[in-house]
Amino acid sequence: MKKSLGEKLRSDRRIKEAKRLIKEALKEHQSKLVHVQSGIPQQQRIYKKEMDHIGQLRGRPLFFPYIGSGIGRGALVELADGTVKYDFITGIGVYLMGHSHPDIITSGIDAAIEDTVMQGNLQFSLISGEFMNILVKAACSKGAALKHCFVTTSGAMANENALKIVLQKNHPARRILAFKGCFAGRTLAVAQITDRPEYRVGLPKALSVDHIPFFDASNPKESTQKAASRLKELLKKNKNQYAGMFFELIQGEKGAFPGSKDFFVALMKILKQHKVAVIIDEIQTFGRTSQLFAFQHFGLDKYADVVTVGKMSQACATLFRPELNPQPGLLSQTFTASTSALYAGKCTIEHLLKGGFYGPKGKVMKLSKRFIGHLEKMAKDFPDIIKGPFGIGAMIGFTYKDGSPQEAKKFLTTLYNNGVLAFVAGKNPMRIRFLMPIGAITGKDIDSVCRIIRAALDML
Ligand SMILES: Cc1ncc(COP(=O)(O)O)c(C=O)c1O
Repeated sequence: MKKSLGEKLRSDRRIKEAKRLIKEALKEHQSKLVHVQSGIPQQQRIYKKEMDHIGQLRGRPLFFPYIGSGIGRGALVELADGTVKYDFITGIGVYLMGHSHPDIITSGIDAAIEDTVMQGNLQFSLISGEFMNILVKAACSKGAALKHCFVTTSGAMANENALKIVLQKNHPARRILAFKGCFAGRTLAVAQITDRPEYRVGLPKALSVDHIPFFDASNPKESTQKAASRLKELLKKNKNQYAGMFFELIQGEKGAFPGSKDFFVALMKILKQHKVAVIIDEIQTFGRTSQLFAFQHFGLDKYADVVTVGKMSQACATLFRPELNPQPGLLSQTFTASTSALYAGKCTIEHLLKGGFYGPKGKVMKLSKRFIGHLEKMAKDFPDIIKGPFGIGAMIGFTYKDGSPQEAKKFLTTLYNNGVLAFVAGKNPMRIRFLMPIGAITGKDIDSVCRIIRAALDML
């Protein structure tokens, strides 16, 4: 069959050769990134100037004195002043394949030779379909009915679109349910779902949201009963007024708090009886449990009506059942994603699905076990200092000392200075949390990072 010119360009031997040369050059430079190291003294003044400049432009300083140089190797990343650190937070969960993964870099070449930088409502190239297909296929692989997919530019927009889909379908129901402590993003509407009133100071109320208690791992039965009875109470009080309920299966921004299958099923069954849509927000959980989707990890396939993904997928998306397909005009965007984000997202998901990452004995759970094992040992050796670890898979956190913002930030800064990037999450307690680049690390990286964490504990 005759090939299109686009296809011919993609398979042109010069493009293949360019990719080979880029990989070769990358490997050579990456080979120098082997451990944590401090910056080049002569660069410090320029680096600081750049930091101050960025701070001025943003109207506030950067959280970490971090400006990337543009190269890394797996969990290791080089900063613009030549410092090398372990990145165990990955831009809050974005770089699951680590820094400068050769396949992600060459997927960028495939994107760069396409005719458009961005894809959108009137601008689809083959990669848009391939990205949607890989998501839908994986989402439906264990029985979910998430046959449709709308790509979008951020996690918050994916949730905003989920919201619009269920509100339109269940019109005139106007209310939304969510869990206490959840995070759903920061658009005007989803900021009402995010259970952090301090993130919406001064904003008008765009949506009526009721928050019900989340799972308490120290009291599974009672917390399930409590949440179920609160849910029933609200459904009775505001009869036929709820369009959907948001489920964050592992609360990431709260500090890695997982629910349980029994807990979720108990609530989802009640929602189904009342025809309230089940929306599963996987912006942060996607890719990080024993299955590609956390709803598959918890066995919730048959309950999922709408699922949102983002962060590590590079481009974000809202997946939904055919019955929820909205009327024309409800969802449309000039930009759905950049061409390079779609290529990188597809490459990441393929790598994970083919690479033995999933299943109870897959790489995600194995590496997670190793990390948890180290942290458990530290919690034993420093019983008054560390509580935890908490979380599942590649979403792990612990509480440092009293969990106050002062203590958490002090520990985080010491970790940063010693060569590990982590971040804080939640409040009362504020936890130290990690979103490690599980697609690119080895057990040895985890051992090295844990040595640095232990040294920081010894220091403080
Ligand atoms: C569970 C969850 N939902 C939604 C979002 C919002 O995603 P974004 O920051 O891409 O808008 C986040 C971001 O941290 C998240 O963790």
